Amino acid sequence: MAQLAKTASPATNALDIRPVAGAVGAEIFGVDLSQELNDETIAQIRGALLEHLVIFFRDQDITPEQHLAFARRFGDTVEYPLVKGVEGYPDIMLVIKHEHETVNFGGLWHSDTTYLEKPPMGSILVARELPPYGGDTLFANMYMAYETLSDGLKELLAPLRGVSVSNRPRVSETRQERMADSAKVTPETVLTAVHPVVRTHPETGRKALYVNGAHTIRFDGMSEAESAPLLDYLFKHQTRPEFTCRFRWEPGSIAFWDNRATQHNPINDYHGFKRVMHRITIAGEIPE
Ligand code: SIN
Repeated sequence: MAQLAKTASPATNALDIRPVAGAVGAEIFGVDLSQELNDETIAQIRGALLEHLVIFFRDQDITPEQHLAFARRFGDTVEYPLVKGVEGYPDIMLVIKHEHETVNFGGLWHSDTTYLEKPPMGSILVARELPPYGGDTLFANMYMAYETLSDGLKELLAPLRGVSVSNRPRVSETRQERMADSAKVTPETVLTAVHPVVRTHPETGRKALYVNGAHTIRFDGMSEAESAPLLDYLFKHQTRPEFTCRFRWEPGSIAFWDNRATQHNPINDYHGFKRVMHRITIAGEIPE
């Protein structure tokens, strides 16, 4: 399996970057995100993101303004299209599950908002209130998902495009509580976009599998029934355990994922407890 060598220890004056799994994810120590960071530090963080695809920070104490300021060092921030943001901060989305709720927002494997023409490059998620246990988030490496396909399947997928929609029932269910209390579109609104099934990452030049079970409904030019067998195979393949890592949240934890080369899945195993996160999403480009 093709795999990049990983940075395991810091050089002098470099950030302390520690991979958390063989496939994806690294924790970064030695940086305080509440401070204004210099360009070199931001470049190191961007480099770590491109290498590890999701990076984690611990013991951070940042305000919404500092969260926004950090995110804006990586690009423009964008509003989530379907649900209103936090009061006073339209670009900060409240990812919340109340004690009495049974579904968690985005609680299935997905890449964020692929039903947009320009899906985000990434998101930065800050833990605000956590359950006493559970509520971990899984991440998966979509370069590995692509690279481990057979040459025959890679050839078959190369010209295909996937149709993403915002209203697949399996994902609509996970946002039903927020659509009930904070929707900014009507329930009938359906956003749709068509993207390459295999995209080339604009910064690394690597190919990543770019379909996801939450939003990709069919191949362009084919029916849902015709597409389902191969899509179902890809959805299962792309989240094989060896392509993943699992992040255990603690107070002060932050995750920053590259939405172009990963998927994530927050685990819904903390019924009866509240979990509150703030998410800022960074603008991306048209996938090619
Ligand atoms: C999401 O942005 O999909 C939510 C992730 C999480 O709650 O861990």
